[in-house]
Amino acid sequence: MENSFYLIILIIFFFTLLFITYYFHKTYPELKWDWKDINLNKINFPNNFIWGTATAAHQIEGRCENNWSEFEKGYKSNGLPNIKNNQNSGIACDSWNRYEEDIKLMEKLGVSHYRFSIEWSKIQPTENDINKDAIIHYHDVIDCLFEHNIVPVITLYHFTHPIWFEKKGAFEKEENIKYFNKFCKLIFKEFSPKVKFWCTINEPAVMTSMGYFNAEFPPGKSDPQLCAIVLYNLLNAHVEVYRTLKNLKHGSESRIGIVKNINHFDPWKRWNPFDWIATWAVNKFFNNSTIEFFKTGYYSVKIPGLMWYSKYNENAIKSNDFIGLNYYSHNYLKFNWSISDPFEIKYKYDDIMTDMPYAIYGEGLYRSIKDISVLKLPIYITENGIADMKDDRRALFIKRYLYALSKALEDGYDVKGYFYWSLLDNFEWAFGYDMKFGLFEVNFETQERSLRKGAEVFKKILSAN
Ligand code: BGC
Repeated sequence: MENSFYLIILIIFFFTLLFITYYFHKTYPELKWDWKDINLNKINFPNNFIWGTATAAHQIEGRCENNWSEFEKGYKSNGLPNIKNNQNSGIACDSWNRYEEDIKLMEKLGVSHYRFSIEWSKIQPTENDINKDAIIHYHDVIDCLFEHNIVPVITLYHFTHPIWFEKKGAFEKEENIKYFNKFCKLIFKEFSPKVKFWCTINEPAVMTSMGYFNAEFPPGKSDPQLCAIVLYNLLNAHVEVYRTLKNLKHGSESRIGIVKNINHFDPWKRWNPFDWIATWAVNKFFNNSTIEFFKTGYYSVKIPGLMWYSKYNENAIKSNDFIGLNYYSHNYLKFNWSISDPFEIKYKYDDIMTDMPYAIYGEGLYRSIKDISVLKLPIYITENGIADMKDDRRALFIKRYLYALSKALEDGYDVKGYFYWSLLDNFEWAFGYDMKFGLFEVNFETQERSLRKGAEVFKKILSAN
C-alpha cells in the first residue's frame, strides 16, 4: 500500500516536470537565425529614424566623488579588488574638459542625438550644497551640442549617486526617493527650456542584480530579498519623478521615459526542467517584473527560497512617454544543485564571444523589441554595442544588430531611434578600462581619440540612411 502511494507521487512528479519542460519549450522559443542566408547589406531605415551615441558621466567625465569612486577603493569578501586589477575611474576620458572635442567626433560620425548623464554628485556634492559651476558646465555642454546640430538626451541617473545619499541608505529605503526627486526637479527646471528628451533611471535591474545579488557593483551586497526591494524602489522612483516633471513647466512638451535593459536567460538544456525553472526565476526578476509593473501596476517577484516581494502602484501604468531599451546579449543558464552557486552561466561552442562574458546575438535585439512592445510605447534603443579590443568583431556586430533592428521596423514595431554604446572607450565599471566599447579608441596616456576601423560601417549605414 505504502509503496504504491510513493509510486503515484513519483509518477505525478515526473509528469509535472515533463509538463513544465513542454510548456516552457513551446512558450519561450529561443530565436535563432541562419546568418548564412541573410543579406547583411539589406539594412534600411526610415528617413526620420534617429541615430545617436550614448555615454554616462562616471564612465567618461573623470574626477567623480560618488558611491562608485568609493567602491573602487574596496575589496570583495574573497580579498580581490572590487575593480579588476585595482583600477579606478580617475580622470577617465577627461570629457569634463574635452567635451567639445567629443561633440566634434559625434558630428564627424554623423549622429543627430547624444544621450549622456548628469552627475548628481557633481551638482549636489553635499545634501545642502548646489554647485553652480557644475550647472554652468552642463549648460555649456548642451549649448555646444546645439552649435553642432546635435540634440541632447539627458539621463538623470546612471548607476551613480552622491556619497551623502549612499550614507542615508540610497534606494534601499523608500523614504529616500524624495532626495532623488528633488535633484531631478532641480535639473529639469534648469535644463528643460532647452532639453526635451529625458531618461530617468538607467537599467534598474542591472544595478540591483549587480549591487545586491552578485556584489559586483556598489554597495557590493549579496542579499536577494533586499535586491527585490531596491528594484521596486528604483521603479517607484521613476514613477514619482515622471509625475513630478510632467507637472512642471515644459513637462508636457518633454518626452520622459525609463531605460530598461533586456537580457534573456535561456536554458542550457531545453529538455532539462530544472534549467527551465532557473531561467524562469532569473527572467522573472531581471526582465519580466519591470515589464509587468509598467503594464499592470503590479510588481511581484515571488521566487521561493530567494525573494518574496510584491507591491502595487497604479501610477506606473502611464508613467512613460517612451521606453528606452538597452540590449547587448543573452545568457544560457544551467541549474546547479548547490546553494552557493545555483545559476551557472554557460556558452555554446559556436557562440561568437564579445570581450564581455556574453556572445554576439543579433536575434536577441529583435526578440527584446518584441517583448518590450507589449507596453505599447514608442521604443528607443538607448544602448547597444560591443566590447572588442581587437576590433575584429565590431563590424559584424553592428551589421547583425542593425539588420535585426531593420527587420523589427519592417515588421511594424514602433522603434524610433538607436543610440550606439559607446562613443568612446571608457571606464567599464567592475572591468575597469579593459573593455573597449568605443567607436573611437581612446589612448588613455595621451587622451587621443581615433575612429576604429570596425566602426566605419556604422558611419556608412548612417550616411546611407
Ligand atoms: C550600462 C553601461 C555599460 C554597458 C556595457 C550597460 O549595462 O548602462 O553603463 O557600460 O552596459 O556593459
